[in-house]
Amino acid sequence: MSNASRDPQRPVYHFMPPEQWLNDPNGPIFYEGRHHLCYQYAPDVADGWGVKYWGHAVSDDLVHWEHLPMALSPSEGAGDQDGCWTGSAVLDDDGVPTFLYTGVKPQVQCLARSRDGMLTWDKPDCNPVIAAPPPGIDQANFRDPCLWREDDGWYMIIGSGVEGEGGKALLYRSQDLEAWEYLHPLCEGVEAETGTMWECPDFFPLGDRHVLLISALGEQLYMIGDYDCEAHRFTPTSSGRIGGGICYYAAKSYLDGDGRRVLWGWLRERRDRGHQIAAGWSGLMSLPQILTLLPGDALGIEPAPEIVDIRGELLCSDPDSCADIVGEALEIDVEAEVPEEGIFAMRVRCTPDGEEATAIRYDRATGALELDMTRSSAGDGVECALHSRPLELAADESLRLRVFLDHSAVEVYANGRECLVGRVYPSRSDARGVGFVAEGGSAPVTKLEAWAMRSIWD
Ligand code: FRU
Repeated sequence: MSNASRDPQRPVYHFMPPEQWLNDPNGPIFYEGRHHLCYQYAPDVADGWGVKYWGHAVSDDLVHWEHLPMALSPSEGAGDQDGCWTGSAVLDDDGVPTFLYTGVKPQVQCLARSRDGMLTWDKPDCNPVIAAPPPGIDQANFRDPCLWREDDGWYMIIGSGVEGEGGKALLYRSQDLEAWEYLHPLCEGVEAETGTMWECPDFFPLGDRHVLLISALGEQLYMIGDYDCEAHRFTPTSSGRIGGGICYYAAKSYLDGDGRRVLWGWLRERRDRGHQIAAGWSGLMSLPQILTLLPGDALGIEPAPEIVDIRGELLCSDPDSCADIVGEALEIDVEAEVPEEGIFAMRVRCTPDGEEATAIRYDRATGALELDMTRSSAGDGVECALHSRPLELAADESLRLRVFLDHSAVEVYANGRECLVGRVYPSRSDARGVGFVAEGGSAPVTKLEAWAMRSIWD
């Protein structure tokens, strides 16, 4: 048994490699009826920020996964000899699975194709397909390609930014995915608002709008706006954050066979490197999330409905009694009518004496939805933060929460349009309780259901 599989903090129903280091999702794609998910992998958790590979797994149902051999490894003497960094997958004009990714160092863009159904990958001689950034861009800020097809060719954006200016998504065009012509930035940020560097841009149509995801300032940002497909420029009209803090990052999406926009994000560790190395693993994927465009140009975000397949025993279906909801791998669905000045609060991963507890709170007056991890762990070497997102409820709208606990992973989805993601590491083995507390006026729970969740690896 490896250290990783013995660790009580290790999730059981979130995707992760068998051990060692994971960061960004890479090149997710729906191919020949199956979901493929690659990810930044380091073979030694102690050297997590060292040389990167692309781990690879496949799923029939978005929930259960089979690990496949590594998709990409660095090639001696090539543009990716010091690492295969983040990138995207497309089917080329002949239907051949093709990866575009960043090779290091310095940062260049590379291409790989699979001619055997995504088992092995060839790196043609045309690599690197982009050997240097456009003038004025530092080669240390030139990574994470995202691409799509339009009538007149392939388009690709590359994450970048300039100190003193801000983050940029640099736009390129190609006819064959090999020869690329630089056009201009698809979109540029203001440094004071979205930082100097935009990592992991992801760009796609959603409803009748377009969405640009960027990872910046340590958080996952999104912009909804207009894409002018003549001028090839994107103008954001609204923006927000996914996850509510630094635990969720580098999100990447694809269209599945049903035309759904599926999103994966990297759930970062919040315990120190020593703990990660001792545990033998670091990093996991979020639950698969489905993005939609809601009225008023809001981003809808919910876990994929397939998640219900891993529900095990129904622990509770009575809003007046939650005593049987105990555990570290649970789904808890709650509906509450929160009065105008009221606060809804629940605690999870709670010890009987309350020494350790993670709180989920909604304050109707301020409209703040919070995931409070400041008391999640009495142990040391753990960062305990509070994540918050604004959530406005209509006058007659109940608060609807779906709370997913998976050992050290917590995901909270609210009313189909907000999500908070956190990491918690209770030090006590009895931190398994769930409770509801009335704070400053009651918030009647009108519906409560909870399930024990099963491992996806059984
Ligand atoms: C984001 C990131 C990417 C890069 C990758 C390297 O987490 O920094 O910009 O390609 O990780 O692993």
